[in-house]
Amino acid sequence: MKKVSLIAIDGPAGSGKSTVAREVAKRLGFLYIDTGAIYRALTLKAINEGLDFGDKEALIALSQRTDIELEDSSDFLKVYLDKKDVSEKIRMMEVSRKVKIVAALKGVRDNMVKLQRRLGRTSSGAVLEGRDIGTVVFPDAAHKFYLDATFETRAKRRFDELKKKGFGISLEEIKNDVETRDKTDMTRKVAPLKKAKDAIAIDTTNMTVEEVTKKVLWIVKSQR
Ligand code: CDP
Repeated sequence: MKKVSLIAIDGPAGSGKSTVAREVAKRLGFLYIDTGAIYRALTLKAINEGLDFGDKEALIALSQRTDIELEDSSDFLKVYLDKKDVSEKIRMMEVSRKVKIVAALKGVRDNMVKLQRRLGRTSSGAVLEGRDIGTVVFPDAAHKFYLDATFETRAKRRFDELKKKGFGISLEEIKNDVETRDKTDMTRKVAPLKKAKDAIAIDTTNMTVEEVTKKVLWIVKSQR
C-alpha cells in the first residue's frame, strides 16, 4: 500500500488547531481534514430532524445514513451534509452546545472514524485535526502535535472568530460553551481528548498563527 504522510493535530477548543492545520496543509499541498466539522454536521442533521438527544440508538442510526463531505476551497473549508452546503450553519451555537452529546457515543464515533480514515488514506498527504487523531484515528501518524493555550486566551479567540463571522454571542456564553465542552471531551469514556504520548505539545498562548505554523512545519521537516 502507498505510504501516506499524515499529520495529526489535537487540542481543545480555541487552541488554534483549525487555523494552523489548514495553513500547514496549504503550504505542504496536503488535504486538510477538520474532523470537528464532521461531528458538527451530524449534530446539525439531528437538530434539523428534531431527534431526541437522549436517544442514543437514534443518533447512532443517524450516523449510518448520513453523507458528509469536506471540500477545501481557496478561502475556507466547505462542509456538505447530504450534498447541501452547511459550512456556516455548523458553527451555530446550538450545534456547539449539542455536538458533545453526539461525539460521546461509541457507535457514532465508529462510523465517523471510518470516514476519517478513508479520507486520510486516500490522500497523498493529509493534516487531520480534532480531539483523538493521534490517539485513536491515526495512532501511527508520522507527525503528532497537541496544541493548547490558557482558557482565557482560547475563549477570547473563539469570541473574536464568531464575532467576525457575524454571530452575536457574548463572551460569557462562549466561556460557558468552551468550559463545558472541554470537560465533556476530556472525561468521556470513548476517545477522550488527551495528548498522545508521542505528540509534541505546543503552548500557543503567546504565539501568532504564523509562529505556530512555522514551528509545526519545522518539526515535520526535521522528523522526515
Ligand atoms: O472548533 P472547535 O474546537 O470549537 O471544535 P470542533 O473541532 O469543531 O469540534 C466540535 C466538537 O466535536 C468537540 O467539542 C468534540 O466534542 C467533538 N470532536 C470529537 O469528539 N472528536 C474529534 N476528533 C473532533 C471533534
